[in-house]
Amino acid sequence: MNNGKIRLVFPVLFVAYGFPVAAAGEPEQPEVVRVCSECHGAEGKAPIPGWPPIAGMGKEELISKLKGYRAKLVPESRMSDVTHNFTDSEIEAIAQYYVELKPTGKASK
Ligand code: HEC
Repeated sequence: MNNGKIRLVFPVLFVAYGFPVAAAGEPEQPEVVRVCSECHGAEGKAPIPGWPPIAGMGKEELISKLKGYRAKLVPESRMSDVTHNFTDSEIEAIAQYYVELKPTGKASK
């Protein structure tokens, strides 16, 4: 008998959200990203001085930071409240979204 375990196939659902609709248009935001926009700005560039920009970060960096916040590695961070009930695939989808956002640095200001 074949005893090999079937690996969990990652839900592809979120991937569908990740693609920018058009280069010039606004990329469609996954539902979860709307929360982030409130503090970090729709383009991942926070309008509030001192609040870190998240656009331009690498996907792996974003994922590991978000998982770190979720694990409460940063005490007293607002980000722990934001991320505490995210699933891994939501975090993936968020990271994918911001990576594809590709800030030019010229779009705003
Ligand atoms: C209530 C406001 C608020 C919301 C909502 C919020 N953030 Fe943050 N975020 C912050 C603040 C403030 C910091 C920096 C200080 C800290 O760690 O608390 C931060 C830090 C970060 C960092 C680390 C930046 C760095 O330079 O290390 C990342 C990544 C991040 N946020 C991503 C997100 C994502 C993705 C979302 C949406 C899921 C989100 N944030 C939602 C306020 C917010």
